[in-house]
Parts: sequence; C-alpha cells; structure tokens
Amino acid sequence: MALYSEKVMDHFRNPRNVGVLEDANGVGTVGNAKCGDIMKMYLKIEDDIVKDVKFETFGCGSAIASSSMATELIKGKPVEEARQLTNKAVAEALDGLPDYKMHCSVLAQEAIEAALADYESRQES
Ligand code: FES
Repeated sequence: MALYSEKVMDHFRNPRNVGVLEDANGVGTVGNAKCGDIMKMYLKIEDDIVKDVKFETFGCGSAIASSSMATELIKGKPVEEARQLTNKAVAEALDGLPDYKMHCSVLAQEAIEAALADYESRQES
C-alpha cells in the first residue's frame, strides 16, 4: 500500500484555498515545536457561517494536505460545525494519514480553533 492516499497527494499537489484572506475576521496561527511546521488560518465569518477560508502552511506535505482538506470541510458551514471539526475527521476525509503524520492533521484542527477564538475575541470588544 502506498504511504500516502491519492487524496493526500491530490490536496498536497493542488491545495484548495491557499493564500491570505484580506478581510478575514478570525485569524489563527499555530506551530508544532518538534517539526517546526507553521499553519495560519484565515476565516471570514458572517451570520455565523464560515463564508470564506484560506490558509498558509509552511510545512510538510501532510500539513498542507490537512489544511487544504480542513478548509474544504468548514467552508460554507455554520461556525458551530467548524468548531467541532476534529483532526480525525480531517485525516479520515484524506483517506488516512500514517500514524507518525497524524500530528499534521492536529495542526489543522488547532489552526481553526485559534482562528475561531480570535473571531470570538473580536466580537467581545
Ligand atoms: Fe509536522 Fe507535518 S511533520 S506538521
């Protein structure tokens, strides 16, 4: 069996939603101290819906594929659904990741959580 699924390779080679979202109202950056990979997530939320989402990932192929898939999974979805996205769901949507690459999908979950927290803190001010 190939180490990486076709979906991982597809999202690595043709990542969806890459870039900066100028009018984002929730931005989160997370990193993994061990591998040094960094992920930045931009959310544009309106009426409790994730209207748009983009990411920048400086990291391994699995991290790029995970962020790409994660953006696809939350785009157009209610905030509440985005909040519940788990790294396991991201990895499953990619048809799996090798065990030692699961932390790359954790980064995607954490980046979305950080961006949502930023969005919420902006609502309070
Ligand atoms: Fe660390 Fe992929 S190797 S995020």
